[in-house]
Amino acid sequence: MRKKVTIVGAGNVGATTAHWLAAKELADIVLVDVIEGVPQGKALDLLEALPVERSDSSVVGSNDYEATSNSDIVVITAGFPRKPGMSRDDLVRANAEIVGTATREAVKRSPDCILIVVTNPLDAMCEVARRISGFPRERVLGMAGVLDSARFCTFVAMELGVSVDNVHAFVLGGHGDQMVPLPRYSTVAGIPITELLDEATIARLVERTAKGGGEIVNLLKAGSAYYAPGRAITEMVDAILKDKHKILPCAAYLQGEYGIKDLFVGVPCRLGSGGLEKIVEIKLTTAESAALHASAEAVAALVKALP
Ligand code: LAC
Repeated sequence: MRKKVTIVGAGNVGATTAHWLAAKELADIVLVDVIEGVPQGKALDLLEALPVERSDSSVVGSNDYEATSNSDIVVITAGFPRKPGMSRDDLVRANAEIVGTATREAVKRSPDCILIVVTNPLDAMCEVARRISGFPRERVLGMAGVLDSARFCTFVAMELGVSVDNVHAFVLGGHGDQMVPLPRYSTVAGIPITELLDEATIARLVERTAKGGGEIVNLLKAGSAYYAPGRAITEMVDAILKDKHKILPCAAYLQGEYGIKDLFVGVPCRLGSGGLEKIVEIKLTTAESAALHASAEAVAALVKALP
């Protein structure tokens, strides 16, 4: 039987995710949104592309969660996007309500699903989904690290004029301006970038990565990034549905790892069919650890602001 993935939110991030998933024929897809006609229209349009792509994924749009029953994965993208000048953190209250409703409605019909939360502020919205679903931490993950690492990879590849295929980048921490790109563990053909780029250049790329979401928001004026977020979500879905045991940076509910407890923060996670299989703990320098804890504190402040 084919796997089933529900995407809550048929905006740009949700629809682009559906596009990537369908093109890769990873699952049957249900797109849910409160706006009448939009999930149905986008789903039908995407479905009509699939004969050309030779993909047999089914794509259904609905305003009703009944269509989502027995999903293997539920991706929550619904929420207000950031506007120029708005931080991810400004969104916390408004989006907590949307993510709360989406979680409640989805898990009622798919009690065994794995939740992937994408709505910002990401780490705090993961906590909303965890509380409302009552799921164990294995089945509540946030997507941000794959996106942030992909941005870092992009900038490193551009800087060095090498294939993106050679670049592995590593980003820890919350999905906020205080995220922690780790140059020591970021490599080009296996060589740490600290051997290939000077400190000032690395600092510039790190800064651009941390502000990567805002850079797109400022260019688009209305709305935020969706191609890279959609592809990053697809990577997590792929690792889970194919039980790949793949290590990807994700927001996970830490239980003492990295000295952080009861908080979602971005860390390297091994993903398989049950969701989170293992959190990989790596050794950090004092400065890296301090940066991670500062990022975690920013997440904790947002969690405190939750209604
Ligand atoms: C970004 C927003 C979606 O990083 O958080 O693009």
